[in-house]
Amino acid sequence: MRISIFGLGYVGAVSAACLARDGHQVTGIDPNPDKLKIIRSGRSPIVEEGIQELTSKVVENGRFTVSNDPHAGVLETDISFVCVGTPSLSNGGQNLDAVRKVSEDIGTALAEKQNYHVVIVRSTIEPGTIDQVVKPILERSSGKKVGKDFGLGFQPEFLREGSSIKDYDNPPFTVVGTDSKRSADVVASLFRHLPCEFIATDIKIAETLKYACNIFHALKIVFANEIGRFSKSMGIDGREVMHLICKDKQLNISSAYLSPGFAYGGSCLPKDLRALLYMAKNRDISLPMLQGVAPSNQLHIDNVVDYVLAAGSRRVGMIGLSFKSGTDDLRESPLVTVAERFIGKGIDLKIHDPNVSLSHLIGANRRYIEESIPHIASTMTDTCDELIDNVDIVVVGLRDPALLEKLYERNRPDQLIVDLVSLTERERIKGKYWGICW
Ligand SMILES: NC(=O)c1ccc[n+]([C@@H]2O[C@H](COP(=O)([O-])OP(=O)(O)OC[C@H]3O[C@@H](n4cnc5c(N)ncnc54)[C@H](O)[C@@H]3O)[C@@H](O)[C@H]2O)c1
Repeated sequence: MRISIFGLGYVGAVSAACLARDGHQVTGIDPNPDKLKIIRSGRSPIVEEGIQELTSKVVENGRFTVSNDPHAGVLETDISFVCVGTPSLSNGGQNLDAVRKVSEDIGTALAEKQNYHVVIVRSTIEPGTIDQVVKPILERSSGKKVGKDFGLGFQPEFLREGSSIKDYDNPPFTVVGTDSKRSADVVASLFRHLPCEFIATDIKIAETLKYACNIFHALKIVFANEIGRFSKSMGIDGREVMHLICKDKQLNISSAYLSPGFAYGGSCLPKDLRALLYMAKNRDISLPMLQGVAPSNQLHIDNVVDYVLAAGSRRVGMIGLSFKSGTDDLRESPLVTVAERFIGKGIDLKIHDPNVSLSHLIGANRRYIEESIPHIASTMTDTCDELIDNVDIVVVGLRDPALLEKLYERNRPDQLIVDLVSLTERERIKGKYWGICW
């Protein structure tokens, strides 16, 4: 394929050399004359393992040429990758000047192009940038329409400096968000040979994914270092603690606990977090990230309460009360916090949780309800039907198939369903719907 790459920094220079190595005809476009001179002489403008040899080879065999002329770059190729820088502004926002300039350049050239062309942005950009910035500039400057006259998309780049050629050849996955299947197929034809899954998705999901991945990496480093500082303060080797953490591929290094939903709670997580922070405080160790965990969890609970209160109805029902499905443990359940807040605000509350039915409870849990949250006990209904039929808002906090079936059957068009568990059959909700993270 004939490919143009706009921006010959780390991302552009590595992509250009690797695509040329894979047999494509690549034109690199960059306004920096020094970079162009370096590449024309068969060298790479960046320092990376293996990049000098690779660049020298593909420049010599004519597969990789460079230019400062964006016009020719577009007219003579089938697909353009945008790899220009998107540095931070002083307020933390993104400087999109180079993305805007390249979009204008590509659009102006597209105005003269007869054949279908695909534009794929690889620079890291804020979610919505393709739709709100790149697309309007391309359409205005070309006088053409995305989807009809040319394709558009975003493909996050996951290579790491220092090992970028290896990463290019062994990515965790290839993800591309595009305007159409046609554009996704063009990108797939370039990357399908890589030993990983190729995933075509929505453009905004792809844009957000890049941020989520990088922030997750930053979060993991800070977590490991906070556990390291805490361990050291206790005279323990934090490296060994983290080494063992990483050995658990079921709960730790896995997709467990990584799906957006409702707040954590229960008898262990809140208690143990408090204890660890207390131990650290006693040793004058500051752990700002871990200190931020409980406040963030609380905010998540507050959002639900605020949303339901703002909805205006006094008749509210909650399906679920325990801290997770399949248990009757109410200790530090975030749903109990929600219920208490509703009661405090004068809401006429009904709660149904088959695991927490007073008639079945014995021992510690019964005592806990009767002594600690007696006001909640009086709101419990015996059946889910009774709850659904008598409220205007249903907060779904329990993923119990039998109860969800009742909800799907009995919910009414005048009701608001507040979903904390990611309902799978959302199309069966007849009224208004609000998902907590979706
Ligand atoms: N560096 C990485 O490892 C990495 C990894 C993944 C994603 N990213 C993202 O990819 C993007 C590029 O990163 P980078 O490190 O390669 O940037 P860089 O600053 O090294 O290179 C950007 C290049 O774009 C060129 N450029 C500027 N304006 C241009 C224009 N109008 N036309 C053509 N070229 C132009 C510059 O001259 C420069 O050579 C950024 O958004 C970055 O966040 C970087």
